[in-house]
Amino acid sequence: MCGIVGYVGNREASPIVLSALRRLEYRGYDSAGIAGIRINGAEKNENFQIRRCEGSIDRLKDLLDTQPMVGTTAIGHTRWATHGRPSEKNAHPHRFRDVVIVHNGIIENHKELRQELIKKGHRFDSETDSEIIAHLLDRLIRETGDFEKSCRTMIKRLEGAFALAVLWSHDPDNLFVAKQGSPLLLGRGEGENFVASDIPALLEYTKEFLILNDGEMAFIEPSRIRVMDFSGKLIQKKTQRINWSLAMAEKEGYDHFMLKEIHEQPRVLQDSLRGRIVPGFKNVIFDTIDWKAEKWRSFSSVSMVACGTAWHAGLITKYWMEQIAKIHADVDLASEYRYRSPVEFPKTLSIAISQSGETYDTLAAVDEAKKLRHSLLSITNTVDSSIVRRTKNVIYTHAGPEISVASTKCFTAQLMNLALVTVKLAQARRAQSKAWIAKFLKDLSSISRQIEKVLKHEDKVREIAKKYANYNQYFYLGRGISYPIALEGALKLKEIAYINTQAYSAGEMKHGPIALISDQWPVVCVAPNDRLFPKMMSNIEVVKARSGKIISIGTEGHKTLENASDDFLPIPKVREELSPFLTNIYLQLFAYHMAVLRGNNVDKPKNLAKSVTVE
Ligand code: AGP
Repeated sequence: MCGIVGYVGNREASPIVLSALRRLEYRGYDSAGIAGIRINGAEKNENFQIRRCEGSIDRLKDLLDTQPMVGTTAIGHTRWATHGRPSEKNAHPHRFRDVVIVHNGIIENHKELRQELIKKGHRFDSETDSEIIAHLLDRLIRETGDFEKSCRTMIKRLEGAFALAVLWSHDPDNLFVAKQGSPLLLGRGEGENFVASDIPALLEYTKEFLILNDGEMAFIEPSRIRVMDFSGKLIQKKTQRINWSLAMAEKEGYDHFMLKEIHEQPRVLQDSLRGRIVPGFKNVIFDTIDWKAEKWRSFSSVSMVACGTAWHAGLITKYWMEQIAKIHADVDLASEYRYRSPVEFPKTLSIAISQSGETYDTLAAVDEAKKLRHSLLSITNTVDSSIVRRTKNVIYTHAGPEISVASTKCFTAQLMNLALVTVKLAQARRAQSKAWIAKFLKDLSSISRQIEKVLKHEDKVREIAKKYANYNQYFYLGRGISYPIALEGALKLKEIAYINTQAYSAGEMKHGPIALISDQWPVVCVAPNDRLFPKMMSNIEVVKARSGKIISIGTEGHKTLENASDDFLPIPKVREELSPFLTNIYLQLFAYHMAVLRGNNVDKPKNLAKSVTVE
């Protein structure tokens, strides 16, 4: 997730673009850049001026202070790296000869296009997928001499997600933009016009917006905006007036980043899957891992290390690894792993799971695994983070920056990528038939739509939170693959609502914890209608017999559970292995609304940091 901005008009462009980029830093902040062009009368052939740097927008401002730019046209970018580590050469804008571009998204066919252009003599400066766009467009313009026609042709060559802004030095007050899969909107001004990834960027300049849809592009001039579809057919767009405050806009109208990030999960999973499932659900490919089947087959066991929410993702993955890939899998709390003197287990794949890639305990655990000569792989959301440099092999979750301390969308994206790793292992070990794999990947691909259905029940969750707002202790119970979700849901309630929450495998209650149950304990039961449900139902009956209040999350239409519960939250029917993606959404929402009811600082809970970089 990155932020792009563009301006064409009658004012100096760079301060406008810089200020707008600052409002998009929540979309990415590992590098930034701006490209402008001076237009002095007929001198339209000036070279571009480009300023780029690794680091935040403040670094870019320093650069502009020392090397000012002039001109009334500019495009800018603040980056959340997906391909290529954060650096000046990987920062946007990317230029090739007379074309300069900024891009947000993932060009899935970037490798093929890059090879095609290299064969035609092109040489690339960066490791990014985006740079090929500048090369491709400049080449098309030189072949046709027609900027607008070349833009249309170029767009049709791109596969994947892109929000683009493009300048051509021979027609610099004609800014080309296009949208497919990544957000992009236009701002209308007086003698000036704007483009940006998101509303906050432009609110100080305009409240008149044209929201582009997928498959739409536009040519933006200081006094004219032409919107068209990718075939070039003009489209009449309705201007929308948006009166949000800046604070509201950065959260897209949600009250907190956490709620925004909970609702982002369907899109995040689509981004996470993008380019990773071969058409026909035949295979999984990771653009950052080129291990052949024999390498995946060579592993005799999997060992996962992580902390907090990431550890819960590992616990779920253990079920998948053993049930689907038929491979032994261990999951350790990183802070425990590093001191338990793990014994070397030959041909072990050690997977470190960390959203930030900077968690001290997880990094230390990776060092332990390295001593055991395990093969190392990290699953992280942060390009070029410390964990990547330690493991070398990495799969990025592409969830975009997660601002709220409580992890939601990154957990879901971790699960998605760990499910894909499980499939790779299952295929290599021939643990499942091709038909089974295809069906599983197809079901995995539809999880986003299922999450959308669960999110529609948010009002009911809010009502249940109000009903139980005065209880100060909870049990969260689950069995099998739902047990780690009980743990994760309990962590959320602890860390943002500050409520004492005991999470247990439901089968464990009879071994002691049941002694606590009374009508003062609401018991949240994660109970999808899977093969362990009958066991879960027995546990629920035991709780009810001691006046425990049952809040259950179960499969829609499952009357046995609904009738046994004081409150029931339905998930769509889904295969057993994938129920965690759905049950977890309710527990994220429940913790969020409980925290709001208690007046807590939801995005910055007390005593907590987003990344625990100390022991
Ligand atoms: C999650 O809600 C917590 N903020 C915390 O448990 C977090 O998951 C843990 O600190 C691990 O962080 P990491 O994924 O960045 O390594």
